[in-house]
Amino acid sequence: MNRDDFLMLNNDYIYFDNGATTFKPNSVVNKVVDYYTKYTANSHRGDYDLSQKVDYLYEETRDKVKDFINASSSKEIIFTSGTTMSLNMIVFGFMKYYLQKGDEILITKAEHASNVLPWLELEKEIGIVVKYIPLKDLKVDLETVKNCITEKTKVISLAYITNVIGDIRPIKEIAKLIHENNGLIVVDGAQSVPHIKTNVIEDDIDFLAFSAHKMLGPTGTGVLYGKYIYLDKMKPIFYGGGMNSRFESTKEIEYKTLPLRLEAGTQNIAGVLGLSASIDYLNSIGMNKIHEHELELKNYLLEKLKSIDNITVYNKNTDSGIVVFNIDNIFSEDTSRYLNHYHIFVRAGNHCTKMVKDELGIKNTCRISFYLYNTKEEIDKLIEVLKNNKDLYEIIL
Ligand code: ALA
Repeated sequence: MNRDDFLMLNNDYIYFDNGATTFKPNSVVNKVVDYYTKYTANSHRGDYDLSQKVDYLYEETRDKVKDFINASSSKEIIFTSGTTMSLNMIVFGFMKYYLQKGDEILITKAEHASNVLPWLELEKEIGIVVKYIPLKDLKVDLETVKNCITEKTKVISLAYITNVIGDIRPIKEIAKLIHENNGLIVVDGAQSVPHIKTNVIEDDIDFLAFSAHKMLGPTGTGVLYGKYIYLDKMKPIFYGGGMNSRFESTKEIEYKTLPLRLEAGTQNIAGVLGLSASIDYLNSIGMNKIHEHELELKNYLLEKLKSIDNITVYNKNTDSGIVVFNIDNIFSEDTSRYLNHYHIFVRAGNHCTKMVKDELGIKNTCRISFYLYNTKEEIDKLIEVLKNNKDLYEIIL
């Protein structure tokens, strides 16, 4: 890949917070600007040229997303504002009606807030029971999953790759286990779809949620994937224009079919078109190459960190480009502020994953999350700065 493709990389920044959001290549920025400067129009509402061009590009993106995750049909792709909205639609638009009091849902304590709080709210609303699969060496172990499944287990909802530990879950095998129990699998793909090849058919995933902004695309745009039979039963969370075909003063209402039934109101059209360009960019490099590159960077970093005594790494044995660490006896936020002084950006704190402390044994960490544009030279700079951390408090105070 060419770092010149990213204007943000012209700055003197070392950006290691790709789990939070990613930089955007010029092709994505240009696609968004083109929409606002060359063919602004609403989608699915006009018969004139501009509007039809937008319709074409919008639906072309849906097809592209379908191919990117290997879904069976474009009707299974719903545009949302991001992973959080997608997961909330799954829980409150589908599970609320599919599940009954006493049904059990399995998650882990390493899940992001967006894959915990909707379930806990549904527990309060309809009396489902949310249970935690205990981790083994910080990972989801199939035997443990088997032992957690009871005849009441109706759903397993897991991140494919977790945003703090960074472990890649055996989703295909877990899907098989829950399907044998007549249950469903929900996958939070926020940290996986941007980094590894996604194949919803091969993994037999029932629902998948992910965000454009973590995969080189614009903020405020995301995807809800669901198998047609389930999405077709999903109740909209939002009602309004674009999702109905008819309503009368007699109160007769007819809604559109998928996918538009679940996309009420004017959508984030610029975001969707930007997502199209981000998928093109990722495809031009190849998801396997991206994953290999991140793993190479992770292994390089782990090797280099061995030369520094007072650093604890919490997730050495995982296969994603995420590394969580602390400088011993230093608050993670202080480390982050110190690195910031050298224009090195990492995330510090609990990373919206507030229960993971029960598994990691530590509340706050510094997180490095790599992406395709990061380099070994950037890691060398980080190591140099971490090694010379004696002036840390002088710098941040
Ligand atoms: N969920 C995002 C992260 O892990 C914001 O940083």
